[in-house]
Amino acid sequence: MNLQGKTALVTGGAVRIGAAICRALAGAGMNVVIHYRSSAAEAERLAEELGKLDVGALIVQADLVSEEACRKLLEEASSVSGGLQVLVNNASVFHKQSIGQATAGHLLDEFWPNFLAPVLLMRGFAERCREGKIVNLLDRRIEGHDIHCAPYVLSKKALAEATKLAALEFAPSIAVNGVAPGAILPPPGKGQDYIRDRAGPVPLQRQCTPEEVAETVLFLLHNDSVTGQILFVDGGQNLL
Ligand SMILES: NC(=O)c1ccc[n+]([C@@H]2O[C@H](COP(=O)([O-])OP(=O)(O)OC[C@H]3O[C@@H](n4cnc5c(N)ncnc54)[C@H](OP(=O)(O)O)[C@@H]3O)[C@@H](O)[C@H]2O)c1
Repeated sequence: MNLQGKTALVTGGAVRIGAAICRALAGAGMNVVIHYRSSAAEAERLAEELGKLDVGALIVQADLVSEEACRKLLEEASSVSGGLQVLVNNASVFHKQSIGQATAGHLLDEFWPNFLAPVLLMRGFAERCREGKIVNLLDRRIEGHDIHCAPYVLSKKALAEATKLAALEFAPSIAVNGVAPGAILPPPGKGQDYIRDRAGPVPLQRQCTPEEVAETVLFLLHNDSVTGQILFVDGGQNLL
């Protein structure tokens, strides 16, 4: 897909990996709709920064915990001239809980932003767009069995499967792929040593960056022959 002048909605795009994705898309000439939940100031600052690149940058707030919120977000994001051609489902929550600790409420807290909202947004996007691309942010943990964050892992494994189902269902007009990062950024408030101490062995012995995740998203958007695939950006850790 020629990305120049096309418009992407990036959920959770105001900060961290989402912001790196927004910057990469804008750098490729795309207009960006930056979705945020609570990072209003960061979203405004990023929109101002991207505006200087001579691309459109709109910000839209939504707490993605209901069907109505997902519908409204897509409606607002699609109101840009020419509509949306790209959806990046990046927004996510991460809590440490085992199955033994998780109530139905804990499971839903994880499943709404990490699985239900991305699936509803994919559905709404496919209804509105004749042609386009979707990229879902997953996690290298989809290949393992990390019992310490079971609701999170379950939600990302479910989204990985939904990525493949949607790729088949929405072909030939929409390509749907996933990017599965390894340990990229520590949780807010923790330093980089948090990752060093907990990430475990990485075959390529390097820490992947938000920019490398963003480049992988860009690759999937440029390429018109790849769908239903999951690219791991984790230095090979998923293989262990
Ligand atoms: N960080 C890593 O090392 C890592 C590793 C593996 C996979 N990933 C995946 O890569 C993606 C980006 O990672 P990240 O660490 O940058 O993400 P993050 O900081 O954990 O979350 C991104 C944004 O999601 C938004 N969000 C959370 N709950 C929401 C809700 N209920 N409704 C709407 N938005 C909500 C928040 O936006 P506001 O700030 O506006 O509230 C948050 O800033 C995620 O899908 C994550 O699972 C990350």
